[in-house]
Amino acid sequence: MVSADCIDQPVMTANRYEQLVQSVVDYAIYMLDPSGRVVSWNAGAERIKGYRADEVIGRHFSLFFTPQDCLDGRPDYLLNQALEQGVAQDEGWRVRKDGTQFWALAALDVIRDDLGQIIGLAKVTRDITDRRETALQLDAVRAQLFQAQKLEALGQLTGGLAHDFNNLLTIILTSAKLALASQDPARVQRMLEHIIDAGQRGTELTQQLLAFARHRQLDVSLIEPATLMVSTRSLLEHALPRDIELLQRLQPGLPMIEVDAGQLQMVLLNLLFNARDAIGERGTICIAIEAVELNGEVEGLLGPFVCFEVRDSGAGIDPQVLQRIFEPFFTTKPFGKGTGLGLSQAYGFAKQSNGAITVDSTLGKGTCMRLYLPASVQAGHAKLNR
Ligand SMILES: Nc1ncnc2c1ncn2[C@@H]1O[C@H](COP(=O)(O)OP(=O)(O)O)[C@@H](O)[C@H]1O
Ligand SMILES: [Mg+2]
Repeated sequence: MVSADCIDQPVMTANRYEQLVQSVVDYAIYMLDPSGRVVSWNAGAERIKGYRADEVIGRHFSLFFTPQDCLDGRPDYLLNQALEQGVAQDEGWRVRKDGTQFWALAALDVIRDDLGQIIGLAKVTRDITDRRETALQLDAVRAQLFQAQKLEALGQLTGGLAHDFNNLLTIILTSAKLALASQDPARVQRMLEHIIDAGQRGTELTQQLLAFARHRQLDVSLIEPATLMVSTRSLLEHALPRDIELLQRLQPGLPMIEVDAGQLQMVLLNLLFNARDAIGERGTICIAIEAVELNGEVEGLLGPFVCFEVRDSGAGIDPQVLQRIFEPFFTTKPFGKGTGLGLSQAYGFAKQSNGAITVDSTLGKGTCMRLYLPASVQAGHAKLNR
């Protein structure tokens, strides 16, 4: 004999599903017929979109789209895509009953009967306005930090540059005066050449500064580490005291990297300024760039990377301080000297570029910062020396 329980089973299951779907309030879950008309409506749909079931059942789902999306044919486009491919996904603004808008993440899936005939579509929509706003705010904060950081770096550079410009202007003025006073055409010619030469050097300096100061936001391109190093060095030369020796070790045949060149240059400048500050009067900074193959030893990273190393013979970092150096606004420098943004920016840049930054420091001996960036995998460029 067949028990009553068994006979009731499919009905119970269908009811439970119905109850389950009905009780979900974080997702709008409803069904459409193949022409796009609403045939069912759950509590989440009512909560998110503001309509009761009796107000929407039978109406076309384009009701939830903005007028512009309707003009652009977006509802029909999504419906057709789902009917043809079995599924369609979308992210965008949707309109509630009261006219307000929310940012939706929506999926549309075809439902078929046992014979494979399309009987309708399941529509699941989530309101992710908060998540989107948080992401936008984070981007804005990051952009602001980047600007603040760039201004700090520019401030540091201009101090040195003002000095260099003064030297160039002295050459120009003295040569011009000498040329004016001289009767010897050969000497006048030489003085004019000095003037042109000094003028050209001044122009190069301003070009470098302008290139650095231009507002560029995550402008990713394929760059050669060695070329970037040359331009960073020429900027830096004006900002280092004479008694700090700058050494450089570049491995030949470095692979290309795909990053924002402006941001990378700023990160390197900040590492170098930190090294300079840690040294004080006299010491050595060594910049090394090499190709490395990582096997998880640096924050679990795997594969070919380019490592930018900045090593200084400065004061080193106290273990208490070491834990905090990547925190935004953490600084041990006096007011006006440090913003505490350099390393947090470097950390953010490394993470955003799928790399890492590490620190190794001994108090009284010096510090070594290493920035790892993934080698580009684009064909013909990655010539890793192994
Ligand atoms: N090379 C270094 N040697 C010693 N201390 C360092 C070095 N780099 C960073 N630090 C420490 O980390 C702190 C945070 O650095 P950073 O974020 O660049 O901010 P800031 O340079 O404005 O202080 C510094 O104030 C300093 O105490
Ligand atoms: Mg700094």
